[in-house]
Amino acid sequence: MKIVSEISELRHLISEWRLQGLKIAFVPTMGNLHAGHISLVTEAHRHADKVVASIFVNPMQFGANEDIDNYPRTMINDQQQLIAANTDLLFIPTPKIIYPNGLDKQSYVEVPNVSDGYCGESRPGHFRGVSTVVCKLFNLVQPDVACFGLKDYQQVQVIQTMVEDLSMPIKIIPVDTVREDSGLALSSRNGYLTKEELKQAPALAQNIQWLANEIKTNNDFIGLAKKAARYIDNAGMKTDYIHICHAKTLQPASEDDTELVILAAAHCGKARLIDNLRVYL
Ligand code: PAJ
Repeated sequence: MKIVSEISELRHLISEWRLQGLKIAFVPTMGNLHAGHISLVTEAHRHADKVVASIFVNPMQFGANEDIDNYPRTMINDQQQLIAANTDLLFIPTPKIIYPNGLDKQSYVEVPNVSDGYCGESRPGHFRGVSTVVCKLFNLVQPDVACFGLKDYQQVQVIQTMVEDLSMPIKIIPVDTVREDSGLALSSRNGYLTKEELKQAPALAQNIQWLANEIKTNNDFIGLAKKAARYIDNAGMKTDYIHICHAKTLQPASEDDTELVILAAAHCGKARLIDNLRVYL
């Protein structure tokens, strides 16, 4: 696996592959990798000749009250996992390389509507930071396909909308969520959980599943979502939101929608966990 930090080195390697007519897949990450991230690399190999990953803890997507300095950094272990997954190239830029003029002078990409509610509401500016950095990384790597985890369902919709709205010639591949046996979605944030909280956290996925079963026979979406939120709180967490939405627009679901997604976030100790489930009525 080649590792580069400079844009010139990255562009040089990519242009050589392009000249050879090779197809390139891209997996952007913020590091602290686990089996969920690696499943994206595995999927990426199915669609391309070369797989490029990036590790960049993107300051633009962290709010002022969110502690970017404490985001877990495990570079050696990350590299070992990426090598084992046959990653061809790893791009690890510094903030200065990505934002040479500083964040306040940085042009940005904002995707309306799908960025607005849910995590966009709880974390103002978050999706602007995500769409801007992913746009920038896409321009640097110029992949044919890029893999994103459905664990971050709203993020996938934001990126898919950006690619369509801005006519980027990149196919977005959504990849299923990798979970613990308990149902808990793998996440870098699980590392913040104490032993006790690790026992509480699966209640998020379990109650989303409960809600998914209930809405098959009861269309009181709002009442049922409130009930699920109470169950999550009773399990020791603090629900941030739980909503039943249209799977593509992410607008609140109406009674005749058949393609739905349940989106949820809850605080468990110091960690804010998110999860979701597609439901077909
Ligand atoms: P990060 O949280 O590191 O996640 C990188 C990718 O891994 C995302 O596409 C995310 O959805 C996916 N992922 C995380 N947990 C997963 C799981 N349990 N199963 C499957 N996929 C999982 O998401 C980001 O970084 C950033 O916002 C980024 C897109 C890199 C832009 O900075």
